[in-house]
Parts: sequence; C-alpha cells; structure tokens
Amino acid sequence: MLHRVLSGIRATGRLHLGNYLGAIKGMIELQNNPAYETFYMVADAHAITTPFSVDELSQNRREIIIDYLAAGLDPKKSTLFVQSQVSEHFELFFYFSSVTTIARMMHLPTYKEKVKQYPKNNTMALLNYPILMAADILLYKAYLVPVGIDQEPHLEVAREIARKMNQIYKTSFPQPQRFATKGEYIPSLTGEGKMSKSVEGSYIKLTDSLDEIRKKIRSVPTATVAGGPITGGIKTLFMLAEIFLPKNLYQEIKEKYHSQTLKFIELKDTLAEAIYQELKPFQEKRKQIASDLSYVEKVINQGAQKAKAVAQETLKEVKEKMGLI
Ligand code: ADP
Ligand code: TRP
Repeated sequence: MLHRVLSGIRATGRLHLGNYLGAIKGMIELQNNPAYETFYMVADAHAITTPFSVDELSQNRREIIIDYLAAGLDPKKSTLFVQSQVSEHFELFFYFSSVTTIARMMHLPTYKEKVKQYPKNNTMALLNYPILMAADILLYKAYLVPVGIDQEPHLEVAREIARKMNQIYKTSFPQPQRFATKGEYIPSLTGEGKMSKSVEGSYIKLTDSLDEIRKKIRSVPTATVAGGPITGGIKTLFMLAEIFLPKNLYQEIKEKYHSQTLKFIELKDTLAEAIYQELKPFQEKRKQIASDLSYVEKVINQGAQKAKAVAQETLKEVKEKMGLI
C-alpha cells in the first residue's frame, strides 16, 4: 500500500509566506512523489475554535481550495476536500476523546496561547482542537504530515492517541510524523515570534503586490549600520534571503554584513523583488482559477466523495474493535 499523507490549513484568512513555505511546499513535494497518496483538506471546523465570522468562514473555505490549486496542488494527484463535508472526522474525534485526558489537553502550549489571546473563548472546542486534528490524520491512516514546526505538539498528541487506540482496541493506526521543509519556521517581519495570520504586520500574503511586499519588507526593523549583533529583524531578512535569493548572492550579503558594507535598503528591495517573482505565477494562476468557480465546486465535491470512501473504511474498523457495531 502507498504511504498516506494528510495535511490541512485552518480556514481563518488569506495565506501567507509562512503557510506556503512551512506547509504547502511540503504538500506539493509529497504529492509529486509517486510513493505517496495525498489528502489535503481545509480545516473549517478548526476555524470555529476561535472567534470567527460566519460570512468570512464560508468564503475562506473556498478561498483556501483556490490557493491550493493555484500553488500547484492537483486534484488528479491529491484528494482536496473540506473537513466539515466528511462528517466521519467528528465521529472519530469523539471516540478518540475517550482515550485522552483533560489534563493532557490543558497542558498544550497552543491551547494556553489561544486562551491568553481570547480569554472569553475558553471553550470545549478549543480544548478539543488537538483531538480533532488527530482524527483528521488517523482517519486516513496518514503516516506523514507536512506542517510547520509549530504543529509538532499536536502531532505528538496524534501519536499518543494512535498508540493508545492500538494498545487498548488493537486498531492499526500508524504513528504520524511531521514532514519538514526548509521553511518550517518563518519568523515574523516584526522580528519577534513567527509569521502568523493573527499578528498584524508579521506577514506577507501570497496575494500581495510588489509594492505591498516592498513596503512590508522595508518596515522590518534593522540597525542603521551593518556588522553589529544580529537582531530579530535582521535574522528574518537573512532567513528570507537564504530561501529566496541565489546561493552566491546570499553568501555575498552575509560577507558584506560582516565587513559592514551592506546597505539594508538594497538587501530589502532585492529581497522584495525575489519574493514577488516567486509569487507572481501563483497570483496569475489564482486569478484564472477564481474566475471559474464551477470548476472549484467540482473539485470540492469530488474530493469529499473520495475522502469519505477512505474515512468510512477506517471508521468501520474502529467501531467494530470498540464494540460499537
Ligand atoms: P497561522 O499561524 O498564520 O494562523 P496556521 O495555524 O493556519 O497559520 O498554519 C497553517 C500551516 O502553516 C501549518 O502547517 C503551520 O505549521 C504552517 N505555518 C504557519 N505559520 C508558519 C510559519 N511562520 N513558518 C512556517 N510554517 C508556518
Ligand atoms: N492545526 C493546523 C494548523 O493550525 C491545521 C490542521 C487541522 C491540520 N487538522 C490538521 C494540519 C491535520 C495537519 C493535519 O495549521
């Protein structure tokens, strides 16, 4: 049997460079490797674990599928689907919750951060977030999960659940591993923390114009002269330079930095141009796909059917082994 792969992105807003480099690039690489069978979803149910707008959610679901298609995910090679259209996720989630303690969920750093961010939204859905994610992955018996490094604590939970289920009920779940890319952690443009949708001023959207990218990169805090300690902002620029600029140019920039001849404005504008050049084909393809919504709907419907067929098989096995059939 081919190794299965599953990944997803929450339907909470437009995608940024961190999502692209940390998750989507890995998704594409595995899709194009014939040794893997790939399932990629839009995690719309995960989006309701934090405050959300009904209208935006229903739009974002489709927008992320369009982003997937524009980035190079191909419905002929990958099953692209919307999580909430495969209700088996929620059923498996409930069975998994019976082998997971409340204490374990309360100790997760991601949970604590979200409670801090939204103190009035300390809901069961938020606490249950990692169990639903484990169900997403294990419903397809996925062995590899292309996601950024911030998702590692959630994968650890998925492995624990798989082990417990196998031990107690003799199911045959794999221990899912993260598939890491070179961009597994893209720092914020502010120089502090990671690039994130929920931090204004931290990110470059995949749909930003050259002017917008230039403005954002120019605003990354840097020292007035090169050669001093490497602060957060400079680290961000170097990391982006390593990813987006040719190797020799990147080496040259580092040397110039140490010999104090680097002009940050030149580095910033070169970088903005390089990022835009990488995003341009994506943006053009995105416009084309967004103008054919009936095609997008077809992809979503077919994806749900294909995902459901696999999901039903796993759920049947779990119910039998748990004495539920
Ligand atoms: P955000 O934190 O911006 O809301 P999500 O939580 O929706 O992003 O993440 C979607 C995917 O993108 C996940 O696989 C996540 O690990 C990855 N990702 C998010 N931010 C970054 C980043 N700054 N660097 C690398 N990968 C990231
Ligand atoms: N938690 C992931 C994120 O914030 C989204 C997600 C939901 C996911 N279910 C998943 C990722 C299953 C990989 C596999 O980015």
